[in-house]
Amino acid sequence: MSAGETGRSTHLYPPSAEVVKKATISGMAAYQALCREAEQDYTGYWARLAKEHVSWQKPFTQVLDESNAPFYQWFADGRLNVSYNCLDRHVDAGLGGKVALIFEADDGQVTRVTYKDLLGRVARFANGLKARGIRKGDRVLIYMPMSVEGVVAMQACARIGAIHSVVFGGFSAKSVHERIRDAGTVAVITADEQYRGGKNLPLKSVVDESLALGGCDSVRTVIVYRRTGGTCAMVAGRDVPWEEVVAGQPEICEPEWVDAEHPLFLLYTSGSTGQPKGVQHSSGGYLLHAILTTKWTFDLKPDDVFWCTADIGWVTGHTYVAYGPLACGGTQIVFEGVPVYPDAGRFWRMIQDHKVSIFYTAPTAIRSLIKAAETTPAVHPSKYDLSSLRLLGSVGEPINPAAWEWYYEHIGGGRCPIVDTFWQTETGGHMITPLPGVTTLVPGSCTLPFPGIQAAVVDEAGHELEWGKSGILVVTKPWPSMIRTIWGDPERFKKSYFPQDFHGKLYLAGDGASRDAETGYFTITGRIDDVLNISGHRMGTMEIESALVSNPLVAEAAVVGRPDDVTGEAICAFVVLKRARPAAEEAKNIANDLRNWVAKEIGPIAKPKEIRFGDNLPKTRSGKIMRRLLRSLAKGEAITQDVSTLENPQILDQLKQAS
Ligand code: WT7
Repeated sequence: MSAGETGRSTHLYPPSAEVVKKATISGMAAYQALCREAEQDYTGYWARLAKEHVSWQKPFTQVLDESNAPFYQWFADGRLNVSYNCLDRHVDAGLGGKVALIFEADDGQVTRVTYKDLLGRVARFANGLKARGIRKGDRVLIYMPMSVEGVVAMQACARIGAIHSVVFGGFSAKSVHERIRDAGTVAVITADEQYRGGKNLPLKSVVDESLALGGCDSVRTVIVYRRTGGTCAMVAGRDVPWEEVVAGQPEICEPEWVDAEHPLFLLYTSGSTGQPKGVQHSSGGYLLHAILTTKWTFDLKPDDVFWCTADIGWVTGHTYVAYGPLACGGTQIVFEGVPVYPDAGRFWRMIQDHKVSIFYTAPTAIRSLIKAAETTPAVHPSKYDLSSLRLLGSVGEPINPAAWEWYYEHIGGGRCPIVDTFWQTETGGHMITPLPGVTTLVPGSCTLPFPGIQAAVVDEAGHELEWGKSGILVVTKPWPSMIRTIWGDPERFKKSYFPQDFHGKLYLAGDGASRDAETGYFTITGRIDDVLNISGHRMGTMEIESALVSNPLVAEAAVVGRPDDVTGEAICAFVVLKRARPAAEEAKNIANDLRNWVAKEIGPIAKPKEIRFGDNLPKTRSGKIMRRLLRSLAKGEAITQDVSTLENPQILDQLKQAS
């Protein structure tokens, strides 16, 4: 997006009377009543909702335990099972015949799975896991394509109290290896290959490669789902086909009742160091927020067809594919493929074919489809019947007003509210978001906190700023679906999210924000740490730098982000080689090799879009790399900052030009 396009627009979009009338949370007064209830009796508010929306095997008596803050506990003496809440309770209520999942494969084949079928499949697979010795509390790594089986694997872990750690299928063997080791993983669930955009991409061989890197003795079992039938080596005694795991297993599996604080999953995400962190989520509090946000932000109703396009490898695919819509008894699409295959009309065609009513995707997808629609009239959304839509959502990064308006007009037909949901892997579910029957929308603003969430914009000292000023986004009170800890590193958890600068009392989101002077609406201004957001995916600059310097050619590297029309941010790397600075063709070749190297080390999503070579990097006399100068260079801006503290100002000229 170009600089002039970012931020908030001045157009206002109040909800129509019809939307207000039908919405679960109907009207501003209803929203304010919930906020007031939370303000007057914070724990009472969440306790009421937890009783109303979650089925407990043993009811809780404690609500919030702050005795070991910031390791907060919610509903700690209550017992439940998340899979029971997602499946059994709907089947028991007579909804067994309702379609839970509409799976559309890369090649367009469609499979429907009812709640009764899904429960049976989850139970059989859960029994199979137990038969292989996988127990409550064990860590299971899931490296699967978007598939019914992927959802079954997650639900089956939840059913037996095993802790899943889903790794996006685009991550490298090295990333898988790191995650296997960090969590002491006992089993891996994967597929032979995945289909994406008409191509077969390897999965099982990546797992093999990661296990061969060593130190993975904890892994006793590798379960392989046959997706493509491609060649796939099986190690006797360790590897077992999915069919064999479920063969002869009954379709009944008594859920393992766990304490509300029992970890449901770990999900690794990038931080400001080279090491990804295993964000740990709970069972009870997480489920509650998944349910509430699905019901209130998405206004999910029994007749809706819900489609969240996120992969199960990201938190959005956890909360709004694997858990939220199922816990609410909804019908949803699970899509294996990519938005541009066989053409860039795929999303619109699928909305038409499946009569999708609620559609949730990322700004980067919208921006790339705008481009496609502008150049290829045949895939313009006007060629499709999108009249089934009634609500749109956006997630992962700020949405620029121009993309918002296009989404609103061309996809939503000017009739569907857009919920621009701000949240994070760590928050478990939506934090700041419009509610469709409540909020007057302003393109580019995620508007107001979800009822009960206490968000604020503060200065460096943690003091709340007046509206109209930019500052640091924090959450001032613990909430049920918050991150519980970083797996194996409680100190890092405290330091990253509850820093002493704020006396350990405020949750630091890592984003900057401002509030509108009149409405108090929030606008997210982007990360304030060394984290980039590429197509709505988080990448640490340090992770990419570590990957680059691990290449034998590289002496030093610094990575920054720069604005990009489609991906939001793009990765730009400044590299010093151990040998002389390359030029022309040679520079191109080495840059290409390094990009592939990063893809191999982390995954293709971490590939720098641009690599520039220098004899050195701009450094202060004490040797600190001046990243803000690199950011300006990457953007192609003139350097207006004071460079008098630079040891080597002449280096800036060299780095100005793309190689
Ligand atoms: C970071 C979290 C939330 C699930 C997907 C990403 C950015 C997320 C928005 C939004 C502006 C947003 C923030 C946040 N972000 N949603 N609606 N508007 N920025 O989860 O990988 O944990 O990334 O994504 O910078 O901190 P994640």
